[in-house]
Amino acid sequence: GTPAVESDETVSLTIDGRKVTVPAGTSVMRAATQSGGHIPKLCATDNVKAFGSCRLCLVEIEGARGTPASCTTPVSDGMVVKTQTPRLEKLRRGVMELYISDHPLDCLTCSANNDCELQDEAAAVGLRDVRYGYEGANHLGTADDTSNPYFAFQPDKCIVCSRCVRACGEVQGTFALTVDGRGFASVISAGQDEDNFLSSECVSCGACVQACPTSALMEKSVIEVGKPERSVVTTCAYCGVGCTFRAE
Ligand code: FES
Repeated sequence: GTPAVESDETVSLTIDGRKVTVPAGTSVMRAATQSGGHIPKLCATDNVKAFGSCRLCLVEIEGARGTPASCTTPVSDGMVVKTQTPRLEKLRRGVMELYISDHPLDCLTCSANNDCELQDEAAAVGLRDVRYGYEGANHLGTADDTSNPYFAFQPDKCIVCSRCVRACGEVQGTFALTVDGRGFASVISAGQDEDNFLSSECVSCGACVQACPTSALMEKSVIEVGKPERSVVTTCAYCGVGCTFRAE
């Protein structure tokens, strides 16, 4: 969920009725995982600083206003947290509906099928219907960046969680990536002359590919294997019923 924290001090709190003791400064999300729970998330990872942008990890904290993001909220002694309530479930489904509304619905033939955090979390929050549908149209006009010999960037698959940007800076120390634009127009940019990965400061370390929760950044070798002409057995993206479909 979020990076581990080292501290001589410990803090005890209650999450979904379970007592848990963690080092002071730990995030509520990490404490929840330690207590055996799972809070849906898209922008947090174990190795980059929490950013609080996806709003999927909202929780209820007794005495606190609103529904804070669990990834950016540190624990405090005696805190009482709820991670699963009808209100939170509804909020998360609403957030996920917006993500999916602007994402191509080609999961069955996508190279990340069955290995996609967006797909997993859509199922985890119980998303069934999507009332709006742009199918990634906001980035469909943006060409894929295939300039790097090892991986490709597909902007229409990007949810702008900025995990790649943070991994590039915090894990690799390269700072080759930024988020350009705002709202629907926001896109990951490698900057520099050609505004592509090859002409940027990128050193092809793969930290961004590792961090990406979808197929927006993916090794070319994996994309090749996932070509639709190869026959693969897949499971429906969202319902979780488990029926299978053979894509030829
Ligand atoms: Fe907390 Fe994205 S995981 S806001």
